[in-house]
Amino acid sequence: MLALDPYRVNPATGRFMLIDEFAVGGGVTSIERFADERAMLMDRPGERFVVEHRVTAEARAARAGHRGAVFWLTGLSAAGKSTIAIEAENRLFHLGFQVYVLDGDNIRRGLAADLGFSHDDRTENIRRAGEVAALFAEAGFIVISAFISPYREDRARARAAAGEGSFHEVYVKASLEVCEKRDPKGLYRRARAGEIGDFTGISAPYEEPEHSELVIDTERLAPEEAVEAFVDYCRQAVSVERGRSETGG
Ligand code: ADX
Repeated sequence: MLALDPYRVNPATGRFMLIDEFAVGGGVTSIERFADERAMLMDRPGERFVVEHRVTAEARAARAGHRGAVFWLTGLSAAGKSTIAIEAENRLFHLGFQVYVLDGDNIRRGLAADLGFSHDDRTENIRRAGEVAALFAEAGFIVISAFISPYREDRARARAAAGEGSFHEVYVKASLEVCEKRDPKGLYRRARAGEIGDFTGISAPYEEPEHSELVIDTERLAPEEAVEAFVDYCRQAVSVERGRSETGG
């Protein structure tokens, strides 16, 4: 790993020389096409301000009848994340909840259209999705996100964006063998054939959750059972009563 500045921003640390006994070349660095993560590392006293809302989380919850929260589904491709998310969204909506699904396949058509499946691109994908999910939750929505999100560190960052009490990691669990057998999009077959690189479970890692709030085993549960267990969990987690008893008033 190298810490770099774009030459444009800081000429002193934004250029380099290649030395092999003698100087053999040099250049300037550009971070174009790379995720600019400097804002995540730097504190800029006096340059960043927070605008406080006057509408409180309590007021939003009182109007909606429930609190906002992020339910972060993670798991292999074809584990059942999207199926559960979409079905639960429909159920919760008709029960009167404000709810919205953020799905990897859709987000990658717009907000993350510039990203692929390298480790860095997935990290950036999950960073963006985590921030958006946190905003939706702050607005009072139940957010159900469905991203493979294979890296623990990225999921931890999404958790931090929403805040501990508002984030629920849900491991949608199925073995690679079963997912590969399901293969609804034919992607595992193409990954095995070498047509798709960096494929999760085949040529890219999946780091299993260790402390998820909920595990849904889609090998053992029928789809309807999985959705029901998930919807029950969501309803409990966002109930205003639970919020009150937790904050003691
Ligand atoms: S993540 O790893 O960055 O969280 P995300 O959930 O957004 O992934 O996107 C996964 C979806 O992209 C899969 O459901 C699949 O349809 C598609 N896809 C295309 N190429 C790959 C790949 N190499 N690895 C995983 N999924 C892929």
